[in-house]
Amino acid sequence: MGVYFLLFIVGLCWAQYNPNTQPGRTSIVHLFEWRWADIALECERYLAPHGFGGVQISPPNENLVIADPSHPWWERYQPVSYKLCTRSGNETEFRDMVTRCNNVGVYVYADAVVNHMCGGNAGAGNHSTCGSYFNAESEDFPAVPYSAWDFNDAKCKTRSGDIEDYQDAPQVRNCRLVNLLDLALEKNYVRSKIAEYMNYLIDIGVAGFRIDAAKHMWPGDVKAILDELKDLNTTWFSAGAKPFIYQEVIDLGGEPITGSQYFGNGRVTEFKYGAKLGTVIRKWNGEKMAYLKNWGEGWGFVPSDRALVFVDNHDNQRGHGAGGESILTFWDARLYKMAVGFMLAHPYGFTRVMSSYRWPRYFQNGVDINDWVGPPSNSDGSTKSVTINADTTCGNDWVCEHRWRQIRNMVVFRNVVDGQPFSNWWDNGSNQVAFGRGNRGFIVFNNDDWYMNVDLQTELPAGTYCDVISGQKEGSGCTGKQVYVSSDGKANFQISNSDEDPFVAIHVDAKL
Ligand SMILES: *[C@@H]1O[C@H](CO)[C@@H](O)[C@H](O)[C@H]1NC(C)=O
Ligand SMILES: *[C@@H]1O[C@H](CO)[C@@H](O)[C@H](O)[C@H]1NC(C)=O
Ligand SMILES: *[C@@H]1O[C@H](CO)[C@@H](O)[C@H](O)[C@H]1NC(C)=O
Ligand SMILES: *[C@@H]1O[C@H](CO)[C@@H](O)[C@H](O)[C@H]1NC(C)=O
Repeated sequence: MGVYFLLFIVGLCWAQYNPNTQPGRTSIVHLFEWRWADIALECERYLAPHGFGGVQISPPNENLVIADPSHPWWERYQPVSYKLCTRSGNETEFRDMVTRCNNVGVYVYADAVVNHMCGGNAGAGNHSTCGSYFNAESEDFPAVPYSAWDFNDAKCKTRSGDIEDYQDAPQVRNCRLVNLLDLALEKNYVRSKIAEYMNYLIDIGVAGFRIDAAKHMWPGDVKAILDELKDLNTTWFSAGAKPFIYQEVIDLGGEPITGSQYFGNGRVTEFKYGAKLGTVIRKWNGEKMAYLKNWGEGWGFVPSDRALVFVDNHDNQRGHGAGGESILTFWDARLYKMAVGFMLAHPYGFTRVMSSYRWPRYFQNGVDINDWVGPPSNSDGSTKSVTINADTTCGNDWVCEHRWRQIRNMVVFRNVVDGQPFSNWWDNGSNQVAFGRGNRGFIVFNNDDWYMNVDLQTELPAGTYCDVISGQKEGSGCTGKQVYVSSDGKANFQISNSDEDPFVAIHVDAKL
């Protein structure tokens, strides 16, 4: 009786905040712009065997096709209908992906673009990914259907009809975000069409949603839509499981709209996390890793159980959205691996790893004029498949950060230390820091410009451990550095500031 009561309470409390990942799988990866067929393969051949909990996918619904510039990545944030066909694949391929990923315990989180439809200047015709007709000027989307009545124009009070002032919350939510036609989410009809779309995905088997542009919707309108959502498909999820919800609310402080206004609906994306961590790892503004001792709420972030965290996302890795220059990405690989390693070792928040494609960056006056470039594509405009090289890296300009040894092994580290407290913090007052996760794992960073040689207290059982950053345990051997923990838990760590990766991570599953 008591146990059931407890489960009931836990179920109620966690609902939409629970990622629904399988026990012991604690991170998801954003396979940005991947084709559904490639994601299905990746779930089976890589993500499941390496303990990833799930995949955030690009928006699955029909979107505008933009010819000039050709297929920018942001065309997928311009919906035309809720039919499931995009450059990532059609509905058959989508269903196949969800089924195959779910069957290996890697769950799918859809990017739900429901604040708006396409841009007001998108013209009229069938230039959309399934060929559905639309007329942006008359706000006619017969494939949903939406008509001019279903948009917010009358409510917006700015002269341009666009958001002009982020200090004015009503205009941020009622006006057009960069001219994107803003849906009237207070209308039951509009809410029901969005809920119908999301429920369609839930029945197919998705485990949750990233709510795009949540900041531009009233929290109560988002809630009204979420209240119409079904429980997850019981083929893979327990009865009564709710979709995991994480809302894109860019809140770097200083604006009337805050992440906390959305806690009633689900988690929020904590954008301060990557901006601050990038500043610290880059040692800008006098920041030091020693200051990370109270990382998390102590830095003004939202509560851990309301946070979805990431070092970079598809927007801010190319200068869009928020965070600015400090954001670390694969372009700064050495610092990036340290930042992702720190994130995955630290207990704060639910973690999302980014997986990107390379684009031809071209800076003019400090601005990347190619920040619009879409995924690697063939001459007919189709997205290139993700090829896998003999050394397990990806080809065709897919970066596959999630396959980098250091990052993949830290995803495993996070699973191994799941539930363990943040413990045994040490720092040298500068950029050499270390911490443990109870008696299951320990990580040490040397981001100073000199050699590090220290004896540190861990709580790990005595033994020889294989560093999962410079290598990994393979069979009974170790391809990287070895660390000896004595019976009192003490261990000596030596990290050169010129090491390829100036950090060391050990955990009980990498004990030799
Ligand atoms: C979906 O795409 C696959 C692969 O391109 C193709 O074989 C199949 O015919 C398509 N199905 C539909 C219903 O269009
Ligand atoms: C293209 O648009 C026309 C209206 O101009 C419409 O009748 C037709 O059904 C559309 N084609 C598709 C594939 O939706
Ligand atoms: C759940 O998924 C299974 C397997 O794909 C499917 O047969 C079933 O119809 C789905 N359930 C609902 C309620 O759609
Ligand atoms: C840590 O940094 C300080 C300077 O803040 C330096 O004096 C000290 O030697 C460093 N500690 C180690 C173990 O390198």
